[in-house]
Amino acid sequence: MFNTFFILVSTLLALATAYPSTPSTFYLVTTNQSAPTTNSSLLRAVSATSLFDPYYRPALAIRLTGPGYGSLPNFTLTDGTLHTTAAGPHGIGIYEYNSTAVVAGQELQFLASPQPVGGLALSGGYLLSVNGTTNGWTICVGELEQDVLEWMGTDASCNATYVHAVTAAPY
Ligand SMILES: *[C@@H]1O[C@H](CO)[C@@H](O)[C@H](O)[C@H]1NC(C)=O
Ligand SMILES: *[C@@H]1O[C@H](CO)[C@@H](O)[C@H](O)[C@H]1NC(C)=O
Ligand SMILES: *[C@@H]1O[C@H](CO)[C@@H](O)[C@H](O)[C@H]1NC(C)=O
Ligand SMILES: *[C@@H]1O[C@H](CO)[C@@H](O)[C@H](O)[C@H]1NC(C)=O
Ligand SMILES: *[C@@H]1O[C@H](CO)[C@@H](O)[C@H](O)[C@H]1NC(C)=O
Ligand SMILES: *[C@@H]1O[C@H](CO)[C@@H](O)[C@H](O)[C@H]1NC(C)=O
Repeated sequence: MFNTFFILVSTLLALATAYPSTPSTFYLVTTNQSAPTTNSSLLRAVSATSLFDPYYRPALAIRLTGPGYGSLPNFTLTDGTLHTTAAGPHGIGIYEYNSTAVVAGQELQFLASPQPVGGLALSGGYLLSVNGTTNGWTICVGELEQDVLEWMGTDASCNATYVHAVTAAPY
């Protein structure tokens, strides 16, 4: 009886260390490598991301953010939808923003309203996917010349990228 319990616990511990466990709260970073690293600073061509509110429109986008930021938004993922916390338009109020349905050729967007179940997931526990596809994210020049995250952007400015969920900021 004791042995069976011991074997079960050992097996669970081995499984837990063999695979990166999905963090419950994480940052999103872009990188041009799909394989995970234990230290997000070491991801190739890594960039931190933050929320972006061009012209005080209701929907927030995600833009690339270099060193020198004040803080980075964190995310959770439930029901195929990303959730984050941000101030409302003109900095008034704090809301839970939820990702909207992902559309090819458009920014990944967040609204401060309930959203239906989406197609987002963390493949392998870390790689952001849409309906199971991990390669389709692009960095495109968007409003105000910011580099924003789009799904399958087709604009000439767009470059392919991967989006990783990481527990520590890369810089
Ligand atoms: C991650 O890697 C960077 C760059 O090599 C290094 O400066 C940093 O100390 C590392 N962080 C940890 C937690 O090991
Ligand atoms: C990823 O970025 C690095 C550094 O910018 C570059 O050397 C490398 O060629 C890129 N790899 C791919 C597959 O784009
Ligand atoms: C996530 O971000 C929110 C809002 O900035 C903050 O209140 C919270 O402490 C953060 N949670 C974690 C686990 O970092
Ligand atoms: C993901 O799958 C759902 C359900 O089949 C579909 O409605 C949606 O358009 C798909 N999203 C993308 C970006 O392909
Ligand atoms: C975002 O979605 C959650 C449920 O997933 C909901 O509880 C929350 O109220 C939504 N945010 C807003 C501002 O409506
Ligand atoms: C796409 O990659 C090219 C070549 O590396 C670079 O000049 C351009 O700034 C990149 N575009 C974006 C939106 O990051």
